[in-house]
Amino acid sequence: MAKQLHSLLSSCLLLGTLSIVLVHTPAQVHSITLESDIEVLQALKQAIDPVSIVRNSYLHSWDFSFDPCEDAGVFQGILCTFPTDKSANRIMAIDLDPAGYDGFLTPMIGNLTELTSLSTSRNNFRGPIPETIANLQRLTRLSLSQNLFSGRIPRGIIDLKHLEILDLSQNHLSSKIPADITALRSLVQLILSNNALSGKIPDLSGLWQLNTLDLSSNNLDGNVPVLPINLRKLSLSHNVLSGHISPVSVLQRLTALDLSDNRLSGLVRQEVLTLPLVVRINISNNQFTEMEAIPYPREDLQLRVLDAHANRLRGRLPTSLVNIANLSSIDLSHNQFSGRIPSEYGAKLGISWKSLFLEDNFLIGNLPPQFVDGTVAVRANLAHNCLRCPPNIRFCRGGQRANSDCVGQQNHST
Ligand SMILES: *[C@@H]1O[C@H](CO)[C@@H](O)[C@H](O)[C@H]1NC(C)=O
Ligand SMILES: *[C@@H]1O[C@H](CO)[C@@H](O)[C@H](O)[C@H]1NC(C)=O
Ligand SMILES: *[C@@H]1O[C@H](CO)[C@@H](O)[C@H](O)[C@H]1NC(C)=O
Repeated sequence: MAKQLHSLLSSCLLLGTLSIVLVHTPAQVHSITLESDIEVLQALKQAIDPVSIVRNSYLHSWDFSFDPCEDAGVFQGILCTFPTDKSANRIMAIDLDPAGYDGFLTPMIGNLTELTSLSTSRNNFRGPIPETIANLQRLTRLSLSQNLFSGRIPRGIIDLKHLEILDLSQNHLSSKIPADITALRSLVQLILSNNALSGKIPDLSGLWQLNTLDLSSNNLDGNVPVLPINLRKLSLSHNVLSGHISPVSVLQRLTALDLSDNRLSGLVRQEVLTLPLVVRINISNNQFTEMEAIPYPREDLQLRVLDAHANRLRGRLPTSLVNIANLSSIDLSHNQFSGRIPSEYGAKLGISWKSLFLEDNFLIGNLPPQFVDGTVAVRANLAHNCLRCPPNIRFCRGGQRANSDCVGQQNHST
């Protein structure tokens, strides 16, 4: 009896041991992830400097004695397909954490042909973006932003017909924008800002789903091209674009416009200032010479912030800005405006206008009475004009222009 019990116990023990052994059997024995996908993951990890794979990071968790898809808890940052037939699981998404991984993106990435999402944002991936990325035909999201990638935008990117989000911002890419990028009809966000991209911006009118276009902080030149009609956010700031901005005036869904720091010139049409949904317009640091009047009061507009500082705007201050009901922050400083401050501006000051910058123009004469009333709550600057400011007006400080234009005009105004 005792002997039987003992043998029963020992076989139980054996079973226990067996099951433990099973759990720890290397995955290759009964792998459910496609073998070649596992090899790609291994190559991906091997191309990263091991010193930069810190404890608790996603890549640190990738232990190839386990199966990536079966032991999904082990492989952080990946998603797998789970086919209903008996075919092998495939890697469907790689979304790495910003752990500071330092290395290259292996060209073998192109073998993960079921990949729909690839993100390596905020790491130190360097070298080229592999051309093999063009094989990832199912990709809907490619986000390689905030790394050290250099070289060109792979040409094959235009074959990724399902791409919805393409974010290559904050790298060292230095090519042109591929001319046929307009063929990526599914694109919703195109973000290529903070690189060294050069050349002209191609015609993007085919991207009819695009709602965000950010090409800011590059070396792009030429004119503003025909733009996607459904854009909501547009930033082309910090480039060397020139010419007029009429392509912007048809963007009826635009909410934010930043064209600052370019060489854009000519007339700022009222169609741009009165786009129905736009909340912020920044056209500062350009060469605009004229701002068109807004002919009648507009209660229907959303515009709150207008920054047009550092242009070559001249003539009288645009009185009709008071027609934009919700405007609250206006910067027309560092231009060539002359004449008096319109009395209409006084009526808005501190009521709906909370911030008004008019410094460094050629304004003359007395201030509207509301400007002199010390009680209005407003951020303002009127310095470096030819105004006659009472000594207690804080935002007049900075003195009068010390040039002959000013002297002449001031004499005229008295
Ligand atoms: C990756 O794809 C290339 C070309 O399609 C092929 O030659 C290579 O064997 C593949 N590598 C793996 C690990 O499957
Ligand atoms: C407009 O853009 C310039 C950079 O070109 C920036 O300095 C400024 O703060 C922006 N204005 C607003 C109101 O955001
Ligand atoms: C004006 O701004 C207020 C709040 O600041 C907002 O509730 C209102 O909808 C805006 N009006 C228009 C026409 O945008």
